[in-house]
This record gives sequence, C-alpha cells and structure tokens, in this order.
Amino acid sequence: MRLVAWEPVTTNRRDLMSARPLNESSPTESRPMTVPRFVDAKKRGRKLSVLTAYDYLWAGLLDAAGIDAILVGDSLGMVVQGKATTLPVTLEEMIYHAEMVVRAVKRALVIVDMPFLTFHVSPAQAVENAGTILKRTGAGAVKLEGGVTQAATIAALTNADIPVMAHVGLKPQSVLKLGGYRIQRDAERLLADAQAAEGAGAFGLVLECIPQQIAERITRAVAIPTIGIGAGPHCDGQVLVTQDLLGLTGAAAPGFVRQFAALGELATGAVREYIAAVRDGEFPDAAHSRS
Ligand code: KIV
Repeated sequence: MRLVAWEPVTTNRRDLMSARPLNESSPTESRPMTVPRFVDAKKRGRKLSVLTAYDYLWAGLLDAAGIDAILVGDSLGMVVQGKATTLPVTLEEMIYHAEMVVRAVKRALVIVDMPFLTFHVSPAQAVENAGTILKRTGAGAVKLEGGVTQAATIAALTNADIPVMAHVGLKPQSVLKLGGYRIQRDAERLLADAQAAEGAGAFGLVLECIPQQIAERITRAVAIPTIGIGAGPHCDGQVLVTQDLLGLTGAAAPGFVRQFAALGELATGAVREYIAAVRDGEFPDAAHSRS
C-alpha cells in the first residue's frame, strides 16, 4: 500500500522525473481512491473532482494535485487525435492511453471510457472488452454512454465485478443520431436513464449538458454520485476536459467551461521566445553547454 504521495518539482525537461514527497500540510489525501470510497463521498457530502488525462505527464500532474478520479475519456479522439468526433476511437487506442495514465497515478481512481461499438453489440461483448481494459491497463473502472438502453449491459458488467460509471444526458457517441451536440432537456427520460443505470449497478453517473434543475432532481433521486459536465452546481462532483480548463483548447472549449489558466498563451509565448533565441544565436549559451 502506498503511504506517501509524490509530486513533480520542476518543468525542466531534464529534471522532469524528479519528485519530492508532498509536505504534511498538503490539502491532498494520500489514501488511494477506490470505488467504495468514491460512492461514500456522496453520503459524506464531499464533492468529487474529476478530470480527463490521456498520458503519463498529465496524469501525474493531476494525481499530485489531489484529483479524486482521472477519466481516460474517448474525448482523446478530438483532443489528442484531432478528429471531428469520438466515434473513430478504438479499444486498442483506449488501452494504449490508459496504460500511460495508470503508470503515473498513485492515488486517483482511473476510469476508462468504452469507445463506440465496443459495448453495443451484446452484454457479452461489453464484458469481454471492459475486462480486457481492466486486465491490460490496471485501471479501476470503466465508463459507458447509456442508461435505459444499456441497463442489461451495465448489469452484465456489474455481475462480472467490473465497476461501471454510466454517462447520460448528452452522449457524444450519439452525435450522428442527435445531429449535433445539444443540451438534453427531456427530464423524464433523463431521470429514467439515471435510475436504470443505478438499478443495473452503476457506481456513478456522468450527467452531460443538461439543465441544472434536472441535474439537481436526478442527484436527489439516486444514491450514487452524479458527476456533472455542463450540468450546473448541484451534482455530487464535476468533470472537465483538462485541456479546456487550462486554456489549451481556446475557442474550441464549450461555453460551460471556466478557464482556470491560460496555458495555451503561455506555451505559445515560450515557444516564440525559444525560436527567437535560437535564431539570434543566444541559445544555447555557455550556461547550457558542456565542455
Ligand atoms: O470522453 C470524455 O472525456 C468524457 C467526459 C467529457 C465526461 O466523456
């Protein structure tokens, strides 16, 4: 069992692997986040923080900062691969990215998205694919999009002891049927989806792009934690795409995102300075050269 949490101390590439223990006054908890602890947070009224990561570097940063759960989202199709939707993402790609994330994480619960068409064919197909994700990556849970229509699949996964987070509201894998990424407003259908997922054994629920009043109603109606994204302040926790909240995706970030930093501008500025320093012959200088 891990007793000490570690955080990187530098952004200097040469020293990137250096680490030091978090000091005792650190606000972060050092006990690993498990599925039961995640569920228990709702009972204790403790809000859950969740962010996406797709690789070792970012997963390590989020974990050291004290994030509760890291979602290896199929949003990597858009954020990392530059594709127009999440539909082309494959099981192998999810496993490739999840392995990197798990390698960096000491405390957070790692949840891996099941990509389009890896759980739709049958519950047996879903168990096989979700089991493969857990076996090959060491992640703690999977997530899939669906409520009522996926209840049998969620039950099959739960019966195989595979922890499942369900995702209702706006389901990006349904973008072709929906004709775009739209706010979902059918309160009764959303509630039915949430209750079906809970009844089938899901341990948590992502609520994406729904009015805050509906998110509040669902959050009260279910005993499992609701994790909102564009669903207002009444959920039991929040999830965002990390690159959106850090200002790395600029205008492409959805309107419900608050940018907590402007890393895109910082990075572009630093790269411009580097280019100028190389062109001027000012870098590398004596301090960064060896004889
Ligand atoms: O794929 C993803 O990153 C997600 C979150 C945005 C909830 O599903």
